[in-house]
Amino acid sequence: MDHFRIVGPCRLVGRIRISGAKNAALPAMAAVLLTEDEVQLQNMPAVWDVETMGRILDIIGYDVAREGDVARFRQRRVQDLCAPYDLVRTMRASILCLGPLVSRFGYAKVSLPGGCAIGARPVNLHLAGLERMGAEIEVEHGYIIARCRRLCGADYTFEKVTVTGTENLMMAAALADGRTTLHNSAVEPEVTDLGEMLRCMGARIEGLGTRQLVIDGVKSLHGCCHPIIPDRITTGTYLVAGAITRGELVIENCRPSHLQAVLDILAAAGVRMEVMEDRITLTGNGPLRPVTFTTSPYPGFPTDMQAQLMSLMTQADGTSCIRESIFENRFLHAMELDRMGAKIRIDGNTALVYGPRPLQGATVTASDLRASASLVLAALAAKGETIVRRIYHLDRGYERMEEKLNALGATIERIRA
Ligand code: UD1
Repeated sequence: MDHFRIVGPCRLVGRIRISGAKNAALPAMAAVLLTEDEVQLQNMPAVWDVETMGRILDIIGYDVAREGDVARFRQRRVQDLCAPYDLVRTMRASILCLGPLVSRFGYAKVSLPGGCAIGARPVNLHLAGLERMGAEIEVEHGYIIARCRRLCGADYTFEKVTVTGTENLMMAAALADGRTTLHNSAVEPEVTDLGEMLRCMGARIEGLGTRQLVIDGVKSLHGCCHPIIPDRITTGTYLVAGAITRGELVIENCRPSHLQAVLDILAAAGVRMEVMEDRITLTGNGPLRPVTFTTSPYPGFPTDMQAQLMSLMTQADGTSCIRESIFENRFLHAMELDRMGAKIRIDGNTALVYGPRPLQGATVTASDLRASASLVLAALAAKGETIVRRIYHLDRGYERMEEKLNALGATIERIRA
């Protein structure tokens, strides 16, 4: 397992270009399963989760060809309607194959995702929705098996807002018989991006960007060429990198309107930014103020930015209060940050971050993708050498992070183990 050796502190200065959103690329790749035509996806990030999804498509029977940030998918012969455990356990988003497969082929077998470092993360709502549409679902030997003759449109209300749940059912409904209405749907930009891609493939979807999606099933979908939206979480992560190192960054090819809640909190913390349509200029030289925020579904503050903001708040002048309302047990990074000199107290789903605290290099272990990012951010501001272990989590979702940060003035070495 690779590690990072980071020597800090540093001041990041320069320009950085944001790649496509992993969480939009994964459902877009699952949507490929809905057609026999060729699909071309542009602005694809070069990250491990995308690689893993490509391997699943290959096992199912698709050729995946990649050139730069463009990926082409073409159906060979569909041979195995199964997403196997070895791949699913490394990437929960594999569950996104379930809806498209059962809808188009009448059968799907996807491994149950299993344990996860950030809480239980069940998929019960995905399954209940598919059952409502007529699928028969069983769990056998650790696999979800879904069968149907043809899915039927249905009226379904998500008990809780779920991003991949909404995406799974939207894809399933696209080829179902009749009308499906999904209430309390997720409105994350990645859900809307998928809906736009499906429309481009011939799907009939109304209400994108609202909590009620109405999908009229069609007999078949055709190929398309679709650009993936820029990654709002990567954008937010690099903004924090600029702020925590008191640097000066121009973040290019991003979609600031997708991260308004993050921009609002950064502004409240005293980070100075100039926001244009597709770029943000950050000057991080002023004093940092403490903030209070709660994670919530879009357009609220994203849980995927909670860990990074916690790192930044260790440097603010006062006590910050962070509440995590989406996932239980998503504060594992706090203990690692404490080991670097932070003072963070956790009480249930609330974290109090006492700042400012000088950070020192230490050996720390990453527990999940965004927690890893928070440790790298802290290391950039810490004095001395930090070893961040298990950075395979980072590679799942950040494209060549060390190269990008080094180009801005960081000192990060990948130690291959
Ligand atoms: C997606 C994102 C992830 C992000 C999360 C929340 C992808 C690939 N991943 O994950 O990066 O952190 O949204 O913004 O897009 N829940 C249930 N039953 C279900 C489904 C979800 O109880 O069947 C609960 C979850 O435990 C959690 C909440 O609903 O408490 C939201 O989870 P969900 O939006 O489904 O997260 P993911 O789609 O897995």
